[in-house]
Amino acid sequence: NSSIKQKRWDSISKMDNCITIDGPGGSGKGTVAKLLAAKLGWNILDSGALYRLIALISENIKETDPDSIGIELKDKNIFFKLKGDQYHLIFDGKDITDTIRREEIGIKASDLAHNQNIRDLIKDTQRSFYDPNIGLIADGRDMGSVVFPEAKIKIYLDASIEERAKRRQIQLKEKGMEVNMRNLISSLEDRDLKDKNRDVSPLLIPEGAKVIDSTNLSIDEVVNKIMDLI
Ligand code: DC
Repeated sequence: NSSIKQKRWDSISKMDNCITIDGPGGSGKGTVAKLLAAKLGWNILDSGALYRLIALISENIKETDPDSIGIELKDKNIFFKLKGDQYHLIFDGKDITDTIRREEIGIKASDLAHNQNIRDLIKDTQRSFYDPNIGLIADGRDMGSVVFPEAKIKIYLDASIEERAKRRQIQLKEKGMEVNMRNLISSLEDRDLKDKNRDVSPLLIPEGAKVIDSTNLSIDEVVNKIMDLI
């Protein structure tokens, strides 16, 4: 029993089968993480979805303090489930994917993400997604720098602001929403500024990370570059 525990600890401290993908919104993290998880048969952690879940809880209980939000999270089952070609977030038995994708939830998530106590509140939850027997692709803003610093492979995925806005416009169009390009660029710039300049866990290139600029690359080219690293 103790040798099994030791083995488990060794693999946790090395995290050989953990890939972190950090980067700004629209850089393609989610799509790339999903394809890698499918290729490798590993689990996925969309950490942005967890910040959005916290924003949703905060909206429902009309409280922003971490203690009250923590009570709502306690002992609740949180997992990602592949439905069709999309991962859905299941919280306490409910599929909350569509609700957390709302723009106002994204803005609230970005605000709450500035709070160190909020970040501490979900750090263990985020780490619990790593199972050394399965492997994990974790995407977010501080996966390689703060949550999984032991990860063997760290990626920082970037793309020009125009390209990121174009991708978001296509995504929204598929959902039947028309958005002005100039508004999209300014909202992305705003979010970038907030994520990069906050005091706690700012978006940065983690030490030892491989930077991939996806502006002129297809999704498959990005995935292949990461598979080559593995
Ligand atoms: O990636 P996203 O848009 O779903 O993330 C929602 C917000 O959560 C985003 O504005 C930044 C924040 N976030 C964070 O601070 N740290 C992470 N690891 C992931 C997301």
